[in-house]
Amino acid sequence: MQPQLGLRIALFGPPGAGKGTQARLLCTRFGMLHISTGNILRRAIKEQTPIGLEARAYIHQGNLVPDELVRDLAEEAMRVSAFEDFVLDGYPRTCQQAEWLTGFLNRRERPLSAIVYLMLSDEEVVTRLSRRRVHKETGENFHLDYKPPPPEIQHLMLQRRDDQPAAIRHRLRVYEAETQPLVRYFSKAGLLHEVDALGSIETVHARVCALLQSLKGRLN
Ligand code: AP5
Repeated sequence: MQPQLGLRIALFGPPGAGKGTQARLLCTRFGMLHISTGNILRRAIKEQTPIGLEARAYIHQGNLVPDELVRDLAEEAMRVSAFEDFVLDGYPRTCQQAEWLTGFLNRRERPLSAIVYLMLSDEEVVTRLSRRRVHKETGENFHLDYKPPPPEIQHLMLQRRDDQPAAIRHRLRVYEAETQPLVRYFSKAGLLHEVDALGSIETVHARVCALLQSLKGRLN
């Protein structure tokens, strides 16, 4: 039986900061539900659903998908969790999304517990994304240097289209313009917790766990 944290958190940070990697580790360790809007959208593209067809060009070019489309996906996933013990990864990332999310959860008396801000320089972002490879079936993220895929699954590795150099640069600009302003919004709400995302995957995981344990003590 996994320990329950009783927390509703969002991992926040630039592309490649390690949100997906850390979310997976938290979910394995604490049985939380991993809600990645990026993964949900990529699955929709693969399955050629109407949402996938609409989102495709935005994602491949490194632009944000329209708010209304992503909101429905996030809402559906949070309902599955019954609004307990979930980790949002990549949501919210615009002011409109942040306001909607806050109101939606507050009305259910299940407010967000924390925004965990994984802080990383642009230089390290580029290093991480340009050498990332993704398992085409499970969606797990690997890195050619930092987390090399085992030889027996190397043929299942793909490079994301938005991990090409031009798309990475564009995603960083979109992050600066549309997502970074949320730091102020969540800071004012008293929800923002900064975590240094530089260091090994295990080191960053330990920092995030220490933060969550301290929040659990304070909030539950
Ligand atoms: P999404 O998939 O969410 O992309 P992202 O936010 O750009 O983040 P990434 O998945 O690129 O990086 P990550 O922070 O998860 O890092 P990772 O753990 O993989 O979104 C993709 C697209 O979908 C968006 O551009 C947009 O179009 C659309 N979208 C999604 N959500 C949306 C929303 N809310 N609104 C509108 N549009 C939306 O790590 C990166 C690499 O580094 C990996 O190789 C990993 O192995 C390695 N790594 C991780 N941690 C470490 C470490 N500590 N040390 C060394 N290497 C590490």
